[in-house]
Amino acid sequence: MERTLAILKPDCLQKKLVGAVLSRIEQAGFSIIAARILHLTPTQAEAFYSVHLGKPFYPGLIEFMTQGPCMVAVLEKDNAISDYRALMGNTDPALAAPGTIRHEYATTIRYNIVHGSDSHENAGREIAFFFSESELCLTSPAAAKK
Ligand code: CDP
Ligand code: MG
Repeated sequence: MERTLAILKPDCLQKKLVGAVLSRIEQAGFSIIAARILHLTPTQAEAFYSVHLGKPFYPGLIEFMTQGPCMVAVLEKDNAISDYRALMGNTDPALAAPGTIRHEYATTIRYNIVHGSDSHENAGREIAFFFSESELCLTSPAAAKK
């Protein structure tokens, strides 16, 4: 089992698409093992997206991600990282394949509804950015019996 961090971005909440997007995630076989709604501060958004510091879109990205609340969630599934990237689709919705979340719901390369970790290393870092280990609910059969 692999874990990845998903963010339902401020445009997703503003458009009231949380239910639709979570439904797509569950239908694709992911278990949601932690979730919280929060309004990122500029300091938090800058730290989370520090890999993009210096890029032309960075200031606009920080403004977008702090403009309203978002939902952060941890998804669990075999191959969760690459499978969730595939479910999201290309960063630019104009290039995202039909059937992907971004093709269906995103408007521009910035206002693209969802975030997903892009590597094992970043998934670990991003999950720990928002959640402690004790907040992640185990979904193994042994845990379900308890
Ligand atoms: O989210 P993803 O990993 O697909 O793309 P990224 O290259 O890591 O960029 C992070 C985020 O920055 C994107 O999801 C967009 O919200 C934003 N972005 C932007 O505003 N303008 C761009 N030209 C590229 C990305
Ligand atoms: Mg990225």
